[in-house]
Amino acid sequence: MTQTRNRVTVRPATHDDAGPLISVLAEAFVDGPVADWLIPDPDDRRAVYHRYFRKVLLHGLAHGEVDTTADLAAVAIWYPRPERPSGIPAEHLAALEQATGVYAPKFTLLDAMFEAFHPQEPHHHLAYLAVCPERQNRGIGTALLRHHHRQLDTLGVPAYLEASNTRNRELYRRLGYRAGPPLILPTAGPTIWRMWRGQPSAAGPAAFPATGPRPRRRAR
Ligand SMILES: CC(C)(COP(=O)(O)OP(=O)(O)OC[C@H]1O[C@@H](n2cnc3c(N)ncnc32)[C@H](O)[C@@H]1OP(=O)(O)O)[C@@H](O)C(=O)NCCC(=O)NCCS
Repeated sequence: MTQTRNRVTVRPATHDDAGPLISVLAEAFVDGPVADWLIPDPDDRRAVYHRYFRKVLLHGLAHGEVDTTADLAAVAIWYPRPERPSGIPAEHLAALEQATGVYAPKFTLLDAMFEAFHPQEPHHHLAYLAVCPERQNRGIGTALLRHHHRQLDTLGVPAYLEASNTRNRELYRRLGYRAGPPLILPTAGPTIWRMWRGQPSAAGPAAFPATGPRPRRRAR
């Protein structure tokens, strides 16, 4: 357990924390350009997000590293990625379809794009970071990130994430991430900034690494 300077206590999440943390995720992500693109119908969005983030959180607890705060106001889901991306397992796609119903095609497309353009170097992937809306902007997200970065820096392991808007992109920049080429989601979708936090050198933050094969250019 870590208590940061601004008195945010960070600890690993457990299954007992699942209910509150699913709500934190669903409520933190319910607004924004990616949510508008994934589930345009605002009446459906909250219910689908609660089902979707239940799947996300339980998967994180089983296969990743999930950090939370003592008051359960925030959650960060990290996955150690020691190897090259190997594709999305069929059971993940089935669970995704079950959780998101008619909205599954866009969720599946988002996952496929994130996987295809994932860095190949070993790293920890920050899949989700959320602070409950009424507690945002008080340093809690920064505290969760710094807590995990300290562990990564001790081991010399880089971090990677996909930033979903320009405001949170600046938060990550301040914490040592460098943006790579952006991804633009199809059918008038939003821009996603892929960000990498490697070991800094005298020249500044580490360069963005190689990612999956680029799509072939169309012949003119
Ligand atoms: C992004 C988020 C995790 C940051 O945690 P936080 O505790 O609010 O942030 P901190 O107080 O530590 O740092 C403040 C910075 O976070 C970012 N931030 C804060 N609220 C934000 C919001 N609603 N949306 C996007 N970025 C936000 C900004 O960069 C802000 O700095 P600024 O006020 O100078 O613009 C949190 O606001 C959140 O859950 N937002 C909604 C979900 C989300 O966008 N998650 C990240 C997905 S990549």
